[in-house]
Amino acid sequence: MRIPTFILERSQTLYENDVAINLTESGVHPAAISDILSEAELAELAALPLGYGYTDGTPSLRDAVAAWYPGAGSENVLIAHGSSEANLLTLMALAERGDHIIVVVPNFMQIDGLAHSLGIDVTQVALRPGDDWQPDIAALEAAIGPRTKLITLCDPNNPTGTTLTQSSRRALAELSDRTGVWLHVDEIYRGSEIDAVDAPTIYGMGKRVIVTGGLAKSFGCPGLRMGWMIGPQALVAECHRFQDYTSIGTGVVSQFIAERALREPVRGKLLSRGRHILAAGRQRVAKWLDGRDGWSWVVPQASGMAFLRYDMDVPSEAFVDGLRRAKGVFVCAGSWFGIEGHIRVGFGVDPHHLESGLAGIDDYLREERSFN
Ligand SMILES: Cc1ncc(COP(=O)(O)O)c(C=O)c1O
Repeated sequence: MRIPTFILERSQTLYENDVAINLTESGVHPAAISDILSEAELAELAALPLGYGYTDGTPSLRDAVAAWYPGAGSENVLIAHGSSEANLLTLMALAERGDHIIVVVPNFMQIDGLAHSLGIDVTQVALRPGDDWQPDIAALEAAIGPRTKLITLCDPNNPTGTTLTQSSRRALAELSDRTGVWLHVDEIYRGSEIDAVDAPTIYGMGKRVIVTGGLAKSFGCPGLRMGWMIGPQALVAECHRFQDYTSIGTGVVSQFIAERALREPVRGKLLSRGRHILAAGRQRVAKWLDGRDGWSWVVPQASGMAFLRYDMDVPSEAFVDGLRRAKGVFVCAGSWFGIEGHIRVGFGVDPHHLESGLAGIDDYLREERSFN
């Protein structure tokens, strides 16, 4: 089987543990198990039998996930090995070789690459940068053909950190209802809205809406490898059938911790910890940008990502490679998300780390002769 290189993930895998300053993360600085479990729960965990458990997720965990999505029940939830497995299962269940899907870019690009490897045709449709990265509904509709099975996008968006407006959500759900094309929204950054405490979801807005999510970003728990999909019961059952092949199911230790992370009051505590870190990081990047010629952004409303536009004539990958080699500062290239002329800087990290990384970018911009 041929598969295109998942350039974002491959680059992180190659360099993230060796660079001096890694600013390629998109979520919140990781939480610890002790932020989630009480002493009594830690003792309970120590006695947990390490069986397979429920392969689709323990009923109580599926309940806890459903409780975060108005209108959902545990029968609408499948627990997956990270949101990335949930994305894979969704694609496999909804499209096959010869079908067509629409990927809204810029995008995380997992589904784009997977679709190419599965012989599914992909059309990329761009968000509108001049409209705070909202979707172009007319362009989406024009891209729909007889074999189109799915439209997929991220909200809050990776890499821009912007969120859909309620009217964009309604328009997307209405398009899906009217055309019969499934709408998949990867909401893994839900809960990281920096200025608001509510975390909107598109779940329940249309008949063919399917949402994936997980604990890796706003909850700061990527090491749990805990994700889910949530949608109509028959589709959830079909994805579970596929999961028998992909991972059988997720680990009982992660499920135990995940359930406690999702139940109040811990859920609120983790999300507000995240918002606090993100607000400070975003402010630091705003200060860095203030008055700087040739750099701009659409202010991110959620997540730990600043998607910075620059006006130098240099490909984004050459920029980030040069920066990493010269200064040991590692950021993401816009091209990895399907768009040039941008870099993505993670600001959900330790403040000193962010400070040093931004100083490294300054030094690089000053010293690299071809930019001056
Ligand atoms: C939009 C999006 N979806 C999914 C993932 C992967 O999530 P997980 O770690 O839960 O597999 C990422 C990770 O960066 C992401 O940005």
